[in-house]
This record gives sequence, structure tokens and C-alpha cells, in this order.
Amino acid sequence: MSGVPRRVRIVEVGPRDGLQNEKAIIPAATKVELVNRLSRTGLRTIEATSFVSPKWVPQLADAAEVFAAIDKRPGVRYPVLVPNEQGYDRAHAAGAREVAVFSAASEMFNRKNINASIDESIERFLPVMEKARAHGVAVRGYVSTVLGCPYQGEVPLRDVVRVASRMHALGCYEISLGDTIGIGTPGKARAMLRAVAGDVPIEALAVHFHDTRGQALANVLACLEEGVAVVDSSVSGTGGCPYAKGATGNVASEDVVYMLEGMGIDTGIDLPALIETGLWLSSQLGHETASKVARASIG
Ligand code: HMG
Ligand code: MG
Repeated sequence: MSGVPRRVRIVEVGPRDGLQNEKAIIPAATKVELVNRLSRTGLRTIEATSFVSPKWVPQLADAAEVFAAIDKRPGVRYPVLVPNEQGYDRAHAAGAREVAVFSAASEMFNRKNINASIDESIERFLPVMEKARAHGVAVRGYVSTVLGCPYQGEVPLRDVVRVASRMHALGCYEISLGDTIGIGTPGKARAMLRAVAGDVPIEALAVHFHDTRGQALANVLACLEEGVAVVDSSVSGTGGCPYAKGATGNVASEDVVYMLEGMGIDTGIDLPALIETGLWLSSQLGHETASKVARASIG
């Protein structure tokens, strides 16, 4: 155990992971307002949208419009998801200064999600990495299905390590390890993180837990104890991947911040402002917040 870090950076993924999975089409103006509200809570990284194929994810077809309209607050980073060079070009044209590429540790999930093998997906990153380097754009990397796959079941740890190491070696400054279907438990999360940290420095790792089985906060804690200092989460606990059968929302940002602050770990986030934003979002989406902390705040 490396001991919990004193400071943790939250990567807020609600506007992307959350809104990609909503059944209803959310107006662009609501998406913009969500990002702007989040920008005022002290969050320093907000994944704003996704430049994937609008045929695959119609929910985020307005990525360019949304990205252009966001108030870019100094000191806040607004990464966007890109699956390929075409997505990178769209993101770059919209003015993105940071992008995130994504692959998975499981072949079957990758095929369903991006219609490519793991090797093909990594091939697709090469022109993205090259252009990003030339433009001075930072690239984050995601590895999905690190604790299990909805189609393949068990995912061997060596596959997780291999994909994470390759993405890091290609130049991703940070690798986010995703439990896409929220199937992991703390012991497995810890073992997975340890295995990856054997190849990629822990400072370059982040964790991304979906809360399908109520394990996400416990998994976050186990990984903090291993020394990880970057946690992905989603305001109001929205989220899920449309191509991951049975996946539900991410761990709620409000609940992560409450836990961290309670442990004396600094996040720089104004919790009441974050709760207010999450409650506003759930009223816009027309469903109850999944954040327990937010629910408790309204009694
Ligand atoms: P494909 O159909 O194999 O692609 O999809 P293609 O290259 O054959 O292109 C098909 C059509 O899409 C063409 O248009 C392209 O121009 C267009 P047509 O000629 O038919 O009119 N196209 C694009 N349009 C706009 N932007 C683009 C783009 N690329 C192609 N970037 C592809 C392959 C990767 C595009 C598709 O499978 C895709 O977009 N998948 C994305 C699925 C997705 O967004 N999943 C959710 C995000 S991942 C996630 O949530 C997990 C994560 O949170 C971590 C975790 O929880 O584990 C990150
Ligand atoms: Mg996710």
C-alpha cells in the first residue's frame, strides 16, 4: 500500500459519459449550461463531449456546437473523446486542446463499441497522436473492461496491462482504467491497479468506476490506498456506455468528493455547488439523482 494521496484530481465525465447514455435527446443549450455550471464548482477537468460517429451515438451529435459554446474558464481543461482521426479533426476544428482516445482490454467489447480489434483501434490512434503532438494537444487514454467484459466475461490482467502500457508508450499522458460494467470489487480493483502500475507509473494512472453493483466508491477507496490520485466520476451519477450491455452510471462526483473531503483529502471542489449542479441536471433529465449525498442534502 502506498498510502492515500493528500490531493486528488477529479475528472468530471458527466457531460460525456453521462449524456451519451440518456435515452432522450438533450438540447445543446442544456449541455452547455451543464459544463458551465460544473466549471464554477472548482473542477479542473471536465470531459465536455465526444466526437464519435453521430450514427453510433446520436446523443452527442452536437459535439462541435456544444464545445464551441462552452465558456472556457482559465485553469479548467475540457478534454473530448475521439475514436479516430476523423473525430480528432472535428475536435481540433472545434478548438479542443485535449482529447481522449479509447480502447478496451477485451476484444469482444472493442468490436461492439468501436467496430475494431484492439490492434486496429491502436493503429487508429497513431495519426491522432501524431497530429496531437504537432498541435500541442494533450492526449488521455482509456482502457475499458479492466475488471470484466459483458460479452467475454473474465478479462485476464495481462491484457489490461498490455493495452494500458501500449497506450502510455504511444504518448497518452494519463491512462484511465475503466470498469465499464461496474463488475469489480475492491480486492480485484487493487490487484488490477497494482498489475498496471508495475508497467505504467502510478502518477500516470486514473480510475473510472461505474456503479452498476454498488461497488464503485469502495473500489475508488481501494485504488486511493494504492496511491492513485486521479478519479473519474460523473455528477448526479449519470453514465453508461450504449454498447456495454447492462452498464449503469458512473460513481457520483458528489459522493466521491464527500468521501475525499471527509478523509481530509483536498479536491478543490465546492461540494454544495456540485450538489446543486447535480440536482439541476437531474431535474433537466427528468430522473432522480443517483448521488446519495445529493439525496441526503434534500432530506
Ligand atoms: P464504423 O462504422 O466502423 O466506422 O464505426 P467507419 O470508419 O466505417 O465510418 C462509418 C461512418 O461514420 C462514415 O460515414 C464515417 O464518415 C463516419 P458515412 O460514410 O457512413 O456517412 N464516422 C464519423 N463521423 C463523425 N465522427 C467520427 C467518425 N468516424 C467515422 N469520429 C466508429 C467506427 C469508431 C466511428 C464507431 O464505432 C463509433 O463512433 N463508436 C463510438 C462508440 C462510443 O462512443 N461508445 C461510448 C464511448 S466509450 C465509453 O463509454 C467507455 C469509457 O467511458 C470508459 C469505460 O467506462 O470503460 C470511455
Ligand atoms: Mg465510462
